[in-house]
Parts: sequence; C-alpha cells; structure tokens
Amino acid sequence: MLTLSNVVKYYGNFLALDNISFEINRGDIVAFLGPNGSGKTTTMRIITGFFAPSAGDVTFQGYKVTEMPKLVKSQIGYLPENPPIYPELTVTEYLTFVAELKKMPLSTIKNRVDNVIEMTGLKDKKNFLIGSLSKGYRQRVGIAQSIVNNPALLILDEPTVGLDPLQVIEIRSLIRTLSQEEKRTIILSTHILSEASEICKQAIIINKGKIVAYDKIENLRNFSSSFNIEISTKRNNEILKNKILKLQNVLEIQEKENGFIILAKEDIREEIVRLSVETNAGLVEIKLNKTTLEEVFVKLVK
Ligand SMILES: Nc1ncnc2c1ncn2[C@@H]1O[C@H](COP(=O)(O)OP(=O)(O)O)[C@@H](O)[C@H]1O
Ligand SMILES: [Mg+2]
Repeated sequence: MLTLSNVVKYYGNFLALDNISFEINRGDIVAFLGPNGSGKTTTMRIITGFFAPSAGDVTFQGYKVTEMPKLVKSQIGYLPENPPIYPELTVTEYLTFVAELKKMPLSTIKNRVDNVIEMTGLKDKKNFLIGSLSKGYRQRVGIAQSIVNNPALLILDEPTVGLDPLQVIEIRSLIRTLSQEEKRTIILSTHILSEASEICKQAIIINKGKIVAYDKIENLRNFSSSFNIEISTKRNNEILKNKILKLQNVLEIQEKENGFIILAKEDIREEIVRLSVETNAGLVEIKLNKTTLEEVFVKLVK
C-alpha cells in the first residue's frame, strides 16, 4: 500500500532522514518507534505530502506522493503532532468543515460526521466549542478529523503525548477500536514502547534518521539472545552467587532483595535450582522473564 524507497531529507546541512526504505501492507497496524529527534515526524510529513523528500520516492497505492499530492492527501488521514485547533467552532461545525475541505460529496457529509462523532466518543460534546474541551477530548476531535473521509491509511503522530494517564488509556483504546471497526491501515509514531506493543502488531524502529529494525513486535521481543532468569531465595547467599557465576553461559548476575537476576546465554534454570538446593539457599521461586521491548530497543538504539 505504501512504499518508501531511499528517502533522504536534509534540513539545510542537517541530514534528518538517511536513506529510509520500507513497505506497509494493507491492514497493517505499525508502530513507528524512535527516540525524540530520530525523524518520526519528518517521515510522516513526507508520507502525507506535507514536504517533499530531498531524494527518494514515496508511493501510495501506486501513485507517487509528489506527483499526485491531492489524490494522495484525500486518501490519507493524518493527525499531526500539534493538530490545528479551531477554538471558536463546535465539534460538529469543525468536522463538517474538514469534510468539505476534503471534498467529500455534500450529501454524505452529515451522516459521516455523525458516525465519526459516535465512533470517537464525542456524542455528548458535539455542540461544544472546541476551545472549551479538555486536551483528551481535543485529541478525540483530532482523531475524528483524521478519519472523517474514511481514509485507507491513517497516520497518527504521537497521539497520546501531553495527555494525563486516564486520557492516555482512553485514546489508546479508541485507536484500537478504530483499527478493528473500519478496516484501516495505521501507522502510529511513538517514543513509548508500551504504547507500541499495546496497539500495534509490527514496529519500525528508527534512530538518528536510519531504520534499525522492522519486524513483528513478538519477533522483536525474541531478538535479544540472552535469557533473564530471576530467583527468589529465603537466604541470600554469597556461595550460591559465586557458584552461579562459575556456570557456563552466565553473562551477568545482579543481586535483588531476597534473590538474584541472572542473565545467561542459555536457559540454565535447571542448574540454578540444583545449586540453590546444594547451597541451602531456600529457593522459593524461579522464573524466566520475557525480554522486554525496552531491552531490545536499548540494544538497537545504542
Ligand atoms: N523544520 C526543521 N528545521 C530544522 N531541523 C529540523 C526541522 N524539523 C526537524 N528537525 C530536526 O530533524 C531531526 C528529526 O526531527 P523529527 O522528525 O521532528 O523527530 P521526531 O519526530 O522523531 O522527534 C531532529 O534533530 C530535529 O531537530
Ligand atoms: Mg515528532
């Protein structure tokens, strides 16, 4: 559905995007993940035709974005990082205005605006001035405007930044619902890993303008080749620690309250249980922790 081929973007002499290429398939829900300043917003602006790349091509449904900007814009919904706000319009007025700007057939606008208001949970606020809404509701309005013309591709730039924790939960759940309700392809940028794994199936990881990984999130989790084994003991003991350290395949051992966290190249739980019994450490729990996306991210980005 969307292809970026060797996209480069300079701001003056500063290279913001360094030869980026990836493809997004119809129906995919992809996280665009990277630290602040890594080039997420720049990439999204290029995809939506907001700026042209310095080199390379973006193709959407077979059309080059730079050659057919109007057509492409009419099929892509975009929630920018800082959505424009029209404080003096009501929610309904604003969404109607956006629908008209997007050249939707006039006879369909009223119905679609009503539907979108329903879908984004704005029914109680539809006659409120946007200026009077909380940040969470404004973000719903931003999302509503991005889907009003039922675009095939939805691009959301850090949709939960600046919201309080309750609003974050609500907006994430709204995005999940939207991805299911109307079959839609979504690219969502974030620097929050839990947000990526909560909403998306795939992740593209960008760092300093370069793509460093693109895979299913479950595969990225398995990317790390180490095993994290956590044990809890009644008696923290140095002898056990030293014996574990001497095992083959142990990379690192950290003390915690009543136990240890062991990083190893293999799943060595059996040996650890044996040593714990031998040293009379009072083993009460042993578990293999899943590698978190955080660990993978730090590894890739460092
Ligand atoms: N209009 C601009 N002019 C100059 N530099 C910019 C501009 N926009 C972004 N940058 C720089 O490009 C890099 C990538 O920015 P951006 O795409 O906004 O990153 P992200 O969205 O991942 O935080 C940053 O180093 C940023 O300072
Ligand atoms: Mg950004």
